[in-house]
Amino acid sequence: MTWRASILSLFPEMFPGSLGHSLAGRALERGVWSLAVHDLRAHGIGRHRAVDDTPFGGGAGMVMRADVVDTALSAHIAQDDPRPRVYLTPRGRRLQQDDARRYAAGPGVILLCGRYEGVDERVLEMHGIEQVSVGDYVLSGGEPAALVLLDTAIRLLPGVMGAQDSAGEESFSLGLLEYPHYTRPAVWRGCAVPDALLSGNHAAIAAWRGAAAERDTQARRPDLWQAHLQGQAPARLLADPSRTA
Ligand code: ADE
Repeated sequence: MTWRASILSLFPEMFPGSLGHSLAGRALERGVWSLAVHDLRAHGIGRHRAVDDTPFGGGAGMVMRADVVDTALSAHIAQDDPRPRVYLTPRGRRLQQDDARRYAAGPGVILLCGRYEGVDERVLEMHGIEQVSVGDYVLSGGEPAALVLLDTAIRLLPGVMGAQDSAGEESFSLGLLEYPHYTRPAVWRGCAVPDALLSGNHAAIAAWRGAAAERDTQARRPDLWQAHLQGQAPARLLADPSRTA
């Protein structure tokens, strides 16, 4: 069954963007997933199709109107549509690899992209819309964040990664950053690839990779490392050469 993405945005031309290329693009052509993009402007108010207004309580910027978003949702999304509804905002819960897995395992997603200061909170509550952020920085709108969220889910859909299927070992899937990678030439500008990786000894390779993953996680992501030390993540598996998945 096709995994369905529906987008509501003031900039529909931003889609499929990067997702029209490479693995996701080919999967879109093959019908593994489908994309419907709806222009919020079409549901704007009056001759100027206004979609926003000044914030109650004052302050800078404009807020997207609840009635406009409501009309757009009602026009394009059935009330009993089982897909999760997500509003992309830096105020949201931070997107994690577990979310990508959950979205990929379901029927698809409905994504609301905001511009300006945000969307009137009432319409988010009224429609049971989750608020999700892709990181602790501010983008100029939700569209690039929607592309990020979609990318994380689509690459996990059955058949999308094909022979390149390496989702089991990559960063975060085991609670640690992934180990570093090397390919030919074995010596480049005087820099040699770590001996263990050339040894052909699977246990030595797994041990080297496990140690490298731990070293890099400790140095770059103290938050993940603390969770690992507290046993919240099954990261030990990464160093276990008998691990199969
Ligand atoms: N819109 C603006 N910044 C964002 C972020 N960091 N995550 C999701 N949506 C956003």
